[in-house]
Amino acid sequence: MTPPIPSFDDSIIRSNAAGCSPPVHSTQTGPHEALLQHLQRHATNRYMRPIADYNREAFELVDEQVGADGRPLILDSGCGTGDSSRSLARVHPDHLVIGIDRSADRLSRQREITPENCMLVRADLIDFWRLANRAGWKPARHYLLYPNPEPKPRHLKRRFHAHPVFPDLVALGGVFESRSNWLIYLQELELALRYHGRTTTLQPLPEHGAPLTLFEQKYRSSGQKLWHLQTGE
Ligand SMILES: C[S@@+](CC[C@H](N)C(=O)[O-])C[C@H]1O[C@@H](n2cnc3c(N)ncnc32)[C@H](O)[C@@H]1O
Repeated sequence: MTPPIPSFDDSIIRSNAAGCSPPVHSTQTGPHEALLQHLQRHATNRYMRPIADYNREAFELVDEQVGADGRPLILDSGCGTGDSSRSLARVHPDHLVIGIDRSADRLSRQREITPENCMLVRADLIDFWRLANRAGWKPARHYLLYPNPEPKPRHLKRRFHAHPVFPDLVALGGVFESRSNWLIYLQELELALRYHGRTTTLQPLPEHGAPLTLFEQKYRSSGQKLWHLQTGE
């Protein structure tokens, strides 16, 4: 049985507000050797875990508004405090941006007004992606910014690309972008996306420009190197 993906320990971030966030430490020196095995298994076996009621209810509310709105969608999966969702909404006023996170605490930390084309939703992505896929959502863009790295090799299954929900994430399509301070995470994600036929580029994240998320800000002010992975259309 697939273990639930645990929540990130926020206290680490709060205690590193002064700019001394430690880099990811892992005994892995490259992509996990069991990744391909997971990808193969999940490509042929549909993920059957029942959808939780609270996720279904959250999705149905959003789905109704998405249908009524009609603008193309941008998903910000694991949006945390939603800073990136709000920024993306300002940059793409002709799109509807949906930020999704399972942490009510993070979502409640609104530090600025949310634009009218931005919605923040509390839900677990493991269910939300499946519901969105079944409902036929086709976001124009999909962001997964600084996902929890889960750097212990034995926690591979907690990384989204090694989880059975991954084929649903890929099926949503759109231009997909992920950022991380752990290059190996993005190298694995790249292998997984290529396994499913997506074209990708993986590069260092340019250091200029305003940080898109709170974590990006923390990592940058700690002098960490950041990377971003993007798919083609
Ligand atoms: C490291 S934080 C990054 C937050 C934000 N993207 C940023 O860069 O500031 C990872 C976020 O993913 C969320 N998350 C992790 N697993 C999740 C899941 N299965 N469903 C929904 N949110 C999840 C956590 O609650 C957390 O807010």
